[in-house]
Amino acid sequence: MSLKNNILDLRKRKREVQKGGGDKAIQKQASMGKLTARERILAILDEKSFHEYDLFVAHSAKDFGMEEMVLHGDGVIIGTGTIFGKPVCIFAQDFTVAGGSLGLMHARKITKIMDHALKMRVPLIGINDSGGARIQEGVNSLAGYGEIFFRNTLNSGVIPQISVILGPCAGGAVYSPALTDFVFVVENISKMFITGPSVIKSVLGEEISMEELGGAKVHAEITGNAHFYALTEQECFEQIKTLISFIPRNNKVKAMAFEPKPPRRGTKIEDIVPVNPRIPYDMRDIIKAITDGSEFFEIMEHFAPNIIIGFGRMDGNTVGFVANQPKVLAGVLDTDSSDKAARFIRYCDAFNIPIVTLEDLPGYLPGVDQEHAGVIRHGAKILYAYSEATVPKITVILRKAYGGGYIAMNSRHLRADFVFAWPTAEIAVMGPEGAANIVFRKEIAEAEDPETLRQQKIEEYKQKFANPFVAASQGYIDEIIEPKETRSMILHALKVSENKDISGPSKKHGIPPF
Ligand code: HXC
Repeated sequence: MSLKNNILDLRKRKREVQKGGGDKAIQKQASMGKLTARERILAILDEKSFHEYDLFVAHSAKDFGMEEMVLHGDGVIIGTGTIFGKPVCIFAQDFTVAGGSLGLMHARKITKIMDHALKMRVPLIGINDSGGARIQEGVNSLAGYGEIFFRNTLNSGVIPQISVILGPCAGGAVYSPALTDFVFVVENISKMFITGPSVIKSVLGEEISMEELGGAKVHAEITGNAHFYALTEQECFEQIKTLISFIPRNNKVKAMAFEPKPPRRGTKIEDIVPVNPRIPYDMRDIIKAITDGSEFFEIMEHFAPNIIIGFGRMDGNTVGFVANQPKVLAGVLDTDSSDKAARFIRYCDAFNIPIVTLEDLPGYLPGVDQEHAGVIRHGAKILYAYSEATVPKITVILRKAYGGGYIAMNSRHLRADFVFAWPTAEIAVMGPEGAANIVFRKEIAEAEDPETLRQQKIEEYKQKFANPFVAASQGYIDEIIEPKETRSMILHALKVSENKDISGPSKKHGIPPF
């Protein structure tokens, strides 16, 4: 055979395998509103940057007639490419080939690209669209998942790991996404569950649809398994690219730097927060009043909305924001918001992203439900995460900072590097009303006019404690600033913290209250 013929043969073979499960299966995929695995990869990566590996890998199964079966690429595509010119490793399960089910060679392809990502210290993007463990391959499929989970854990904190759920992700398969840093879901397309509707029906006798059980909304709003929710695959791909623009490629380098720009002109920061501490406002407006170009990329927007987490830029560099949301439950900390914030703080810390905390909360949420749901255990996570983090940590107290909430939201005592407070800050064990009712209960009860005395005592307490000056007199806050100085103070604090270098006692690792 001449070289020319060899090349023609190669091209023909490639075309054949790249057809995946064939026209009929591809049509079925399209009829479900889904792109193919290859289309997805090409839509995420920079144009013409994708290079595929292991195209000709074949499955090795022999049981249940598998010997006769040709499964192109063994149901998964792996390769490398770039996003914004920076390299990434990627895999996409191909549902058109045996339902994207995971057998031994399928798993080996995934673990190969995972190892590559770790070696090269580049982000890993995994697109999940699969019927789960390939039933015909028995324990080899289970072994494959185990090898993936192990690598997810090994890679954690070294390279960013991104999971995109674009079809079913069932059974133990859900645990790879759960071990990764960011999970993307798309309305009507993503389905994640441990046991499907048919098992639930046979074991529990309950009827439930796949969508109600583990659809995109369920994971974005209720379980907290998903970090980003999109209406279409295209929107999801844009979200992935935006995320990539904010995060470093690995734990040893900084994220891409952008041209610094001021926030957009608009509402003045001092007009956003009502002086009356009972009136809510949207903390996102504060974030947008201080970030470059007023841009803010929110994470887990629909889960535990009483806390806000996400990335913005200041002076062109990525900053992680953790902020109470007074608009929802007055911004209290509870089990879910503690989990949400704690994991994000650990992400920022692992990837050297400075954390800015914006505080306005009445404390931890009281009540039997919360106590029994484990608010002690979950609430401890945020304390642990902030205490452990060694990245620059800056706090601004805008209004309320009561009780455990004051300590938890990156207080000086958990080693904040800078704590600033607005003159409207109220730093106290609890709100003036609650405090007056407890401390002066007897006097109020015995007074001729209890209501007047109550108001008097509330006022007294406010004068004494519900301000930033007592905390400032102890050095617990570094400076009381005017709202309009917020951005410039944070920028200065970030600049000063650029070479921050601290270390704790030597240990193998701590034992966070997982
Ligand atoms: C082998 C599978 C498969 C699987 C799907 N297929 N799942 N083959 N092993 N796990 C094949 C189908 O036989 C079919 O082949 C093709 O993929 C497309 O599947 P359909 O059923 O026609 O598609 P659809 O109607 O869209 O339904 C999708 C589905 C369903 C809901 C995912 O296929 C399904 O319920 N699959 C089984 C899910 C499951 O129980 N997986 C095991 C979970 S346990 P043909 O040749 O007909 O086109 C698990 C353990 C992991 O994953 C543990 C790790 C620790």
